[in-house]
Amino acid sequence: MTTRRAIRGRLLSFKGDPAEVGAAASHTLIEDGALVVEDGRIAARGEARDLLGRLPAGTPVDDHTGCLILPGLIDTHIHFPQTQVIASYGAQLLDWLQKYTFVEEQRFKDPAHAARIARFFLDELLRNGTTTAVVYGSVHPESADALFAESERRGTRMIAGKVMMDRGAPAGLLDTAERGYAESKGLIERWHGRGRQLYAISPRFAVTSSDAQLEAAGALLAEHPDCYLQTHLSENHDEIATVRRLFPWAKSYTDVYDRFGLLRPRSIFGHCIHLDEPELERLSASRSVAAFCPTSNLFLGSGLFDLAALRDPRRPVRVGLATDVGGGTSYSMLRTAAEAYKVLQLRGQHWPALDAFYAMTLGNARALGLEHAIGSLEPGSEADLVVLDARATPAMAHRMETIAGDLAEELFVLLMLGDDRAVRATYVMGEPARGV
Ligand code: GUN
Ligand code: ZN
Repeated sequence: MTTRRAIRGRLLSFKGDPAEVGAAASHTLIEDGALVVEDGRIAARGEARDLLGRLPAGTPVDDHTGCLILPGLIDTHIHFPQTQVIASYGAQLLDWLQKYTFVEEQRFKDPAHAARIARFFLDELLRNGTTTAVVYGSVHPESADALFAESERRGTRMIAGKVMMDRGAPAGLLDTAERGYAESKGLIERWHGRGRQLYAISPRFAVTSSDAQLEAAGALLAEHPDCYLQTHLSENHDEIATVRRLFPWAKSYTDVYDRFGLLRPRSIFGHCIHLDEPELERLSASRSVAAFCPTSNLFLGSGLFDLAALRDPRRPVRVGLATDVGGGTSYSMLRTAAEAYKVLQLRGQHWPALDAFYAMTLGNARALGLEHAIGSLEPGSEADLVVLDARATPAMAHRMETIAGDLAEELFVLLMLGDDRAVRATYVMGEPARGV
């Protein structure tokens, strides 16, 4: 039997990057629209007056008239073992890792703890309208098992992996090149492509992986070319100096990963703040993805991401947007995009609200090569949705009094003033998410 539901509201979906195709051609908006969802997928999209009258008797209709309905938001870089590290005072990257993060992550050896935090983590993502994320676990395979099991239970599409790290951290957080390889391989066999779950091979960063471990990560990737790879790259000056010391043979930080075969279209490099021209050329040529993590880059004092330099049309680098909790300070992709806007202001770069909403939806889906499945409201897509209310708070409603039907202005208000309070509902495969 088919499970069917209709969802009514203002349907906003992107078809292209506004920076490439222009604002008008980038999106479709149906002011009084409806989606018909069947068995978790969008079966039809159109005017409410056309679609609702044709529904089989008894089909439930969720009425969100006045609110915007978008594809579920996508976060391309976040750490699930850092929900109790977020908002830890006073340190930059390497000290922050040692003082807070590497202490906390040791608790994930305990599967009961990992399961409890996985429940909190997915509740919090869904409360913020995020339906897909690219997630780092701790070094313990139990952490990735816990996250995938909870994601499977809720039917969300998650890309995740246990981190590989064999040096530069407390003994309780270290694997070895061989063990990291074997445990990651076991997780790939258990989870990659099971329902909506996908695996990301996750050497944490060059500072905590030996040559042998990066080589093992490259071998795993070669054996499982449809898996993702995630790591950190060029976030902080002390980090970069450490990488130079640890890999004297490398031309650059990027070159370390390149030599081990880690640069590919499904490779996501967090931060990418302080790259030189040859590094940008290699990221571009390999079609690798840079994850822009504005709240984290500000919080840890790492630097200002240079979007225009990355997207230079002579050698464009693909870019995703990400929270990077717990270096990042918010689970909300709205807050994250607002901070991205401010970082780009400091760089003298323009980032209209349409570009920001594209980035959080179709842009991030394209960065992950998943635009056939998520990131738009095209019929056939998986029905992950977020319902946003630009009048959610008194200050937002007050500001909205001055807006006469201008979509770009409304989106900008949502961006600058919105957060989890603006999320009216989140749907996963056409069903209202539990815990929202
Ligand atoms: N580099 C290596 N590990 C981490 C981490 O957990 N957070 C951030 N922001 N950078 C890292
Ligand atoms: Zn990170």
